[in-house]
Amino acid sequence: MAETLMHAVQYSSYGGGAAGLKHVEVPIPTPKQDEVLLKREATSLNPVDWKMQKGLLRPFWPRKFPYIPGTDVAGEVIKVGPGVKNYNAGDKVVAMLSHATGGGLAEFVVAKESLTVARPPEVSAAEGAGLPVAALTAHQALTQSAGIKLDGSSQQVNLLITAASGGVGHYAVQLAKLGNTHVTATCGARNMDLVKSLGADEVLDYKTPEGAALKSPSGRKYDAVIHCAAGILWSTFEPNLSANGKVIDITPGPSALMTFALKKLTFSKKQLVPLMLIPKKKNLDYLVKLVEDGKLKTVIDSKHPLSKAEDAWAKSIDGHASGKIIVDS
Ligand SMILES: NC(=O)c1ccc[n+]([C@@H]2O[C@H](COP(=O)([O-])OP(=O)(O)OC[C@H]3O[C@@H](n4cnc5c(N)ncnc54)[C@H](OP(=O)(O)O)[C@@H]3O)[C@@H](O)[C@H]2O)c1
Repeated sequence: MAETLMHAVQYSSYGGGAAGLKHVEVPIPTPKQDEVLLKREATSLNPVDWKMQKGLLRPFWPRKFPYIPGTDVAGEVIKVGPGVKNYNAGDKVVAMLSHATGGGLAEFVVAKESLTVARPPEVSAAEGAGLPVAALTAHQALTQSAGIKLDGSSQQVNLLITAASGGVGHYAVQLAKLGNTHVTATCGARNMDLVKSLGADEVLDYKTPEGAALKSPSGRKYDAVIHCAAGILWSTFEPNLSANGKVIDITPGPSALMTFALKKLTFSKKQLVPLMLIPKKKNLDYLVKLVEDGKLKTVIDSKHPLSKAEDAWAKSIDGHASGKIIVDS
C-alpha cells in the first residue's frame, strides 16, 4: 500500500546554510510505543540547529542524513503509540524532539511522551514552540547553576544576563525577575526598551565602552552571570564579579573550558560554569503554565511559513533575532 506523504525540509550533508535546505515529500512517521504523532502548528529555531548543519556537533548530531532539523514544536496530537497514557487525539501540546533525530521542520512530527506537555488555549502554538530549548536553558541556568528560587524565597542575587534580547536571554530576564534578583542586562541599542519591558533593572548597550566592559551602571558586582552571548573573555567578567561570583556560560568555547578547569584546580572562589541543557518535562510544564498565567511571554522575532523555512534559517544564522524565530504552517 502506498505510504502517505508529508512536506518536510531537510539537508543531506554538512554545510550549505539556508541553500542546503531542500523541500521534500517523505512518509508521515508512525509513533512508536512511547511516542505521539503531532500535526505540527509551529516550530522555533535555535542556533544549535544551524550549528549542527555546519558540523560543529559532529560526531554526535545529526546521527544520520538526510536530517530534518528542528526540535521545538507545538501541535495537535493525531495518533498515540500503544504505551502512551496521558494524551489522546485532539490534545494540543508543546514538545521537544531529540537533537539526534530532529524532525521539527515537517508537517507531522513524532515526539516522546516524556518530553511532551499539554498546551492550554491561552498559549498559542508559536508562544509554546518558543519555549523548549531556550526557556529550559534559561530556567536551568537560573535555578540549577545560579541557585535562584523563582518563588522569590532566596536572598537577593545581583545578576548579569548577556544577549538579553536573544532566545535564551529574553526568557532569562523574565524568569530571573520572578526570583529575588537585581538584573543588569546587555543587548544592542535597538532592543534596550524591549529588554527593560521584560523586567531588567538596568540595561547596557553592548556596543558602548561601558557595555563592552559589562560595568553595572549602579556599581553592583554580579553574583552570577547568565552568559548567552559569545566571545567575552574571563578577564572582562572577572573585575565585575562579587567574591563568589559565577559565570554560567551556555556556549563554552575552548578558552572558557580552560578557565573552567583552571578555576576548579586553583579552588578559585570565582568560577566559570559550563552549561549543557538537560531537558525535563516537569520544567517544560512549569514554563507553559507561566505563559498561561501571563508571567512569561515569548517575544516573537518573526514568523515564516514552512514553504519559506530557509528565510527563518538564514535569520537564525545571522544572529540578530529579538526573541524567537518561528516557522509556522
Ligand atoms: N548550552 C546549551 O545547552 C545551550 C542551549 C541554548 C542555547 N545555547 C547557545 O546560547 C547562545 C544564545 O542562544 P540564543 O538562542 O539566545 O541566540 P539568539 O537568539 O540567536 O541570540 C541573538 C541575540 O543575541 C544578541 N547578541 C549577540 N551578541 C551579543 C553581545 N555580545 N552582547 C549582547 N547581545 C548580543 C543579538 O543582538 P544584536 O542583534 O543587537 O546583535 C540578538 O538579539 C547560542 O550560542 C546557542 O547555541 C546553548
